[in-house]
Amino acid sequence: MKKQIILLPGDGIGREIIHSAKVVLNAIASEYNHEFTFHQHAIGGDAIDNYGVPLPEDTVKACHNADAVLLGAVGGPKWDQVPANIRPEKGLLGIRKELGLFANLRPVKGFKSLLHASPLKQEIIEGSDILIIRELTGGLYFGQPSERRNNGNSVVDTLSYTREEMERIIDKGFQSARIRKKHLTSVDKANVLESSRLWREVVEEKAKDYPDVTVEHLLVDAAAMKLITNPSQFDVIVTENLFGDILSDEASVLTGSLGMLPSASIRTDGVGLYEPVHGSAPDIAGKGIANPLGMILSAALMLRHSFGLDEEASDIEKAVNECLEQGYHTADLRIAGGTQVGTEEMTNLVLENLTTKSISDCICNS
Ligand code: NAD
Ligand code: IPM
Ligand code: MN
Repeated sequence: MKKQIILLPGDGIGREIIHSAKVVLNAIASEYNHEFTFHQHAIGGDAIDNYGVPLPEDTVKACHNADAVLLGAVGGPKWDQVPANIRPEKGLLGIRKELGLFANLRPVKGFKSLLHASPLKQEIIEGSDILIIRELTGGLYFGQPSERRNNGNSVVDTLSYTREEMERIIDKGFQSARIRKKHLTSVDKANVLESSRLWREVVEEKAKDYPDVTVEHLLVDAAAMKLITNPSQFDVIVTENLFGDILSDEASVLTGSLGMLPSASIRTDGVGLYEPVHGSAPDIAGKGIANPLGMILSAALMLRHSFGLDEEASDIEKAVNECLEQGYHTADLRIAGGTQVGTEEMTNLVLENLTTKSISDCICNS
């Protein structure tokens, strides 16, 4: 299979971990005889420094023409004072909007060997396997520019959604639940927000098309609490943009570290963008200690969702699991014992485990 992949390293640790995804994909390509070609483009602070804008036209065009996009992370203190309309984060929001990536899938499933890496009790997180589906191109993030203002004394951000925007993401929630454990939790703030009241109405309407899926509504504040007190009650969570952003960082605690979480930003058809859930981690950038696994697992999601390469994706996930089973971990996973390694070493360990797999396959098949 021939595929063209755009790499958007961005800033901070984004630049360090994107390399990890690329080498792992190259290993998969040579094992399975695929041809992956990579082209790197600028986004975020990197693009501001080099082109004066966080999302150059050239980057948008390349992404439109690609088979898939891998993104590291954007942002950092260097650009915290630049005007709001050209901040690095605008580049990320811009590319999501440009590509119409309305559904952000954030699977939260802990690896067994990391159960003790979470500050939460093992018996609480055991058995949890959650798919957070976050609406990605609407809500407060994309309020009307004409209505958004800050005159120093008062500020306005607007939250708007159309029924159609709600329908498509809620549909995605039901469809995903249908092929999992058939339970959908819709998270909103319907006791306060008009947008949430319409959201709840749409969920109720859509529920009629999916009689095999059980639906539960939770207010976001209670959902935040239940996520870490009884996470195994969840299967699929569907929610709007900002709630999904916050809840997914919280849910990452179940897995031991924010550095473990991958994500897929997709639309019904067309190009998908794959990125870890975490940010550019300025506090550890440049130290070579960033956890590359969220990025590597995002590459696996890309193989599965955009290219239909299920076996290849599973190989990567198994190799990651193997490394962790062998006791290797990066510094963010606060584990006593085992062996602490840096970004490059962890990447090499994933590669080694991929290779070991192909050798053992050869032995079995011969
Ligand atoms: P962050 O996710 O960058 O970091 C939060 C904490 O988690 C930090 O202590 C960091 O060191 C740690 N961490 C995150 N990823 C890690 C990894 N892979 N390995 C080890 N430790 C990791 O969030 P923040 O500090 O609030 O934001 C920093 C910058 O990143 C901001 O400019 C923000 O806007 C941006 N950001 C970008 C994205 C994105 O590009 N998708 C996501 C979130 C934040
Ligand atoms: C994320 C990030 C972004 C978001 C920021 C950097 C704009 O936190 O991808 O989760 O809020 O969507
Ligand atoms: Mn976030």
